[in-house]
Amino acid sequence: MKKYHHLLVCLVLCIVTIPQHGDTNPRPDFAVPARMTGVGSGSLDSTGNVVQNTNRVLNLLDQFQSITETLYGLQTPELYRLATGFRLVLDSLVESGSPIFQGLSNAARLSSGNITTVFDGIRQSINATIALNELHQAAINGTSLLLGTAGVQNISTVLDQLVRNVANLSVTLDEIEPALVEIQQLVRPSQALVDSRYPRDGIRKLNGILLDYVNIGRSTVPQINAIVNRIRMMDGFIARLASVTGGLRSYLNSTLATVNGTIYNGVQLLLQNALRTIRTNFNGTVTSTTRKLKQFFLDDLESVQLAARNASGLLVKRLTNVTELLDEVANNTTVVMEGHETEWVMNRTIAIVTELAWRMALSVTSSVPGADSCFAKFNYEYDKIPRLIYGSLVSCGQGEARSLQSVANALVGYLGVVQAQLTSEADQYNQCLSGLVPGSADALKLQRAVCLQGAEQLSAIWGDTVVDNQLQAFEELVREEVGYSATRHYQCVQTSDQLLLTEVRSLWRAIAGCFS
Ligand SMILES: *[C@@H]1O[C@H](CO)[C@@H](O)[C@H](O)[C@H]1NC(C)=O
Ligand SMILES: *[C@@H]1O[C@H](CO)[C@@H](O)[C@H](O)[C@H]1NC(C)=O
Ligand SMILES: *[C@@H]1O[C@H](CO)[C@@H](O)[C@H](O)[C@H]1NC(C)=O
Ligand SMILES: *[C@@H]1O[C@H](CO)[C@@H](O)[C@H](O)[C@H]1NC(C)=O
Ligand SMILES: *[C@@H]1O[C@H](CO)[C@@H](O)[C@H](O)[C@H]1NC(C)=O
Ligand SMILES: *[C@@H]1O[C@H](CO)[C@@H](O)[C@H](O)[C@H]1NC(C)=O
Ligand SMILES: *[C@@H]1O[C@H](CO)[C@@H](O)[C@H](O)[C@H]1NC(C)=O
Ligand SMILES: *[C@@H]1O[C@H](CO)[C@@H](O)[C@H](O)[C@H]1NC(C)=O
Ligand SMILES: *[C@@H]1O[C@H](CO)[C@@H](O)[C@H](O)[C@H]1NC(C)=O
Ligand SMILES: *[C@@H]1O[C@H](CO)[C@@H](O)[C@H](O)[C@H]1NC(C)=O
Ligand SMILES: *[C@@H]1O[C@H](CO)[C@@H](O)[C@H](O)[C@H]1NC(C)=O
Ligand SMILES: *[C@@H]1O[C@H](CO)[C@@H](O)[C@H](O)[C@H]1NC(C)=O
Repeated sequence: MKKYHHLLVCLVLCIVTIPQHGDTNPRPDFAVPARMTGVGSGSLDSTGNVVQNTNRVLNLLDQFQSITETLYGLQTPELYRLATGFRLVLDSLVESGSPIFQGLSNAARLSSGNITTVFDGIRQSINATIALNELHQAAINGTSLLLGTAGVQNISTVLDQLVRNVANLSVTLDEIEPALVEIQQLVRPSQALVDSRYPRDGIRKLNGILLDYVNIGRSTVPQINAIVNRIRMMDGFIARLASVTGGLRSYLNSTLATVNGTIYNGVQLLLQNALRTIRTNFNGTVTSTTRKLKQFFLDDLESVQLAARNASGLLVKRLTNVTELLDEVANNTTVVMEGHETEWVMNRTIAIVTELAWRMALSVTSSVPGADSCFAKFNYEYDKIPRLIYGSLVSCGQGEARSLQSVANALVGYLGVVQAQLTSEADQYNQCLSGLVPGSADALKLQRAVCLQGAEQLSAIWGDTVVDNQLQAFEELVREEVGYSATRHYQCVQTSDQLLLTEVRSLWRAIAGCFS
């Protein structure tokens, strides 16, 4: 029990004696075995101390880093590319600056180590930073499209100031190094001896340079912030416009597909089906007529037999010819609405509006006077033009689809003439067969055989020619109407294109007025 008590006393005593021990063996700074008033605690004089000031610089570099980091999130590839030089320079400034100030901070806090070695490391980092300045300047110069020449000039000036600052740092390290080495080599360093050799002026200068860095940097932060915010705002703007125009492009595509479907079903198929219906109807009447004629193929009267066989043969050939002709006409009846011009005008709209938007975006990022307020005033006008032109193009297509549908109905009406002609041709035969059966009187049968010959003659002389002419006229009508339709639609699309130009000019004038 007594033994433990003794140990406890010893521990307490040991802890208590450390500061006293420090008095004879002073606490270190810059690997100097001395405790300078204020050096470690931050009040060497009104400018603070090395550790505190390097921390300020490091904080500032962190700020640079985190501001420009947001540029990694840009959605617009072109803007991302344009901002790359700016971002790389700030990243590089941070990456090359950090080792200098981190090294200095470590050196100021460490209790041991070779001053010369540590300072050489820092000087090497400084040299590397100075060597990078030329690259930084070139990279920043390359961002003039985005930042404008004044913006580039501002950043360029700051980079030069910072590089001169770290060069000064190097000079000051050279200045304080001999004194620090000398103190380190003292055989019996007393506080008074250390105090008297400590390079106060040099350390003060060092702090002054660090604070200069902080001041140059801090006054640049709002400017960097403003640049980054403008870039991000324009990223949002361009991305929004791209999304609006992309959406419209795809709506237009599906609207064109719908219009195409309407024209396919409501015009082309309508006409083709009408032609096929005529064919089917003719097939029906011819089939029923030939069935009746077949009854007389073995008639006792040879002339009746012959007339029935001839008439049937001719009717079958007529059916074949008419069917083939109608199929061919149906095959030739195709109605499509050309979507290419519509797409072209939409593409042109998007291209022109995007181009205008980029001009605005770059004038904002490069801080052209008035750009911010003109952007605020006009940025939604850019979306309106593609929407307007989209609406105009869609109504051209839908309007024309409706016109064509009514034209198609009229053309179906015209086909009634062909139908009537074929019906009347078949009727010629049916009239001859009306009331006739194989058991009818010979005189009646002979009379009807003559009637059939008359019908055959009409078929041969008229049938082919008339139907052919009628269908040719139909084809001509279709061709003309489709041609008129294409012209009407083309003019409508051209009007949309004119509207585009008018709208763009008026927006352009309004924006120019805002800037002037
Ligand atoms: C520190 O290192 C340098 C070489 O880097 C050497 O010349 C010098 O003697 C060293 N000083 C001490 C105190 O060890
Ligand atoms: C830094 O550069 C200077 C001048 O270019 C040179 O004299 C010095 O040796 C270099 N220091 C280091 C540590 O590289
Ligand atoms: C900066 O870029 C411009 C062209 O954009 C060029 O004329 C000028 O020489 C460049 N200046 C520097 C320092 O690279
Ligand atoms: C350049 O810097 C000055 C002040 O530092 C500022 O007033 C001006 O707006 C800056 N120009 C640009 C384009 O950032
Ligand atoms: C560099 O040091 C010189 C003289 O010591 C001083 O006049 C100048 O302002 C300093 N420059 C910077 C950027 O700290
Ligand atoms: C347009 O629509 C068609 C279907 O109608 C589709 O196959 C095509 O991929 C679409 N094109 C675009 C660019 O969306
Ligand atoms: C129009 O529609 C028809 C039938 O749906 C299709 O075969 C044709 O490829 C379409 N044409 C266009 C240009 O979309
Ligand atoms: C069928 O058409 C051909 C020519 O296409 C014509 O020479 C022939 O007379 C036609 N036959 C009938 C029965 O109409
Ligand atoms: C007429 O219709 C029948 C049955 O509907 C069919 O088998 C025949 O092929 C058709 N004839 C022609 C020439 O289309
Ligand atoms: C109609 O077109 C189809 C396919 O395009 C073809 O197979 C057919 O032979 C054509 N018919 C006529 C009568 O031209
Ligand atoms: C169908 O069109 C082709 C060429 O477009 C033409 O040579 C042919 O005569 C047309 N057929 C009919 C039946 O009109
Ligand atoms: C319109 O633009 C799209 C996408 O860029 C392209 O695929 C298409 O071929 C263009 N159409 C016309 C008619 O220029």
